[in-house]
Amino acid sequence: MSLELGVNIDHIATIRQARGTVYPDLLEAMKLVEDAGAHAITIHLREDRRHIQDADVYAIKKHCQRRLNLELAATDEMVAIACDVKPSDACVVPEKREELTTEGGLDVIGQFDRIKKATQTLKKEDIRVSLFIEPNIEHIKRVPDIGAPVIELHTGTYANATGNAQKREFDRIVEATEYADAQGIQVNAGHGLDYNNTQIIAAIPQIKELNIGHSMVARAVFVGIKQATAEMLSILEQARK
Ligand code: PXP
Repeated sequence: MSLELGVNIDHIATIRQARGTVYPDLLEAMKLVEDAGAHAITIHLREDRRHIQDADVYAIKKHCQRRLNLELAATDEMVAIACDVKPSDACVVPEKREELTTEGGLDVIGQFDRIKKATQTLKKEDIRVSLFIEPNIEHIKRVPDIGAPVIELHTGTYANATGNAQKREFDRIVEATEYADAQGIQVNAGHGLDYNNTQIIAAIPQIKELNIGHSMVARAVFVGIKQATAEMLSILEQARK
């Protein structure tokens, strides 16, 4: 099974927003990422608009040559924007204003009704919905009732751990992937993945897509975003040989 790469370009916008400039140009970055062979462009329109802006979402949708994966919180405002933009994919994520980045998976048990409502509304617009969740079987069990065909497993805990704790977290990701795949749910993964820790996640055969951003924009400072994308694609390819 082939493994696809969604490149999250939020932090290109972070650099622009830091100074309120017009550069770096997100569309130029997207084109380079596409030219390098990435399968999807991923962006997160956050409630506080700290990086991606509303106008970016529309411009990216207009020019994107790959699948566009819009990450969004399950709020009425964000769901309305997604239904207007109609990206091919939408990934529902939890969001807290004060967090540095998305800090964990959705609470699909406590927030079941809200997440189900958002999922069903997005599905009516033919948007393929994925739920960003922890590698936790009890959470995956709720996914069919919510109606999302795809999950993205949160790899942030794995990425931040070391030694035995990282091995335990990796085992949880494998177990969750196998369980979800056996239920007919497509499994993606992402968060905190970099040029050192991605290979063994990419080697989990049932995973269909990885979404990676921060480490690739950081690498692009030295080698450019096209080369950074090519290097990550090569890690994915090696893992599936
Ligand atoms: N997947 C999801 C659902 C995310 O929210 C993010 C961060 O926006 C990523 C993947 C990418 O994470 P990172 O920037 O750490 O690679």
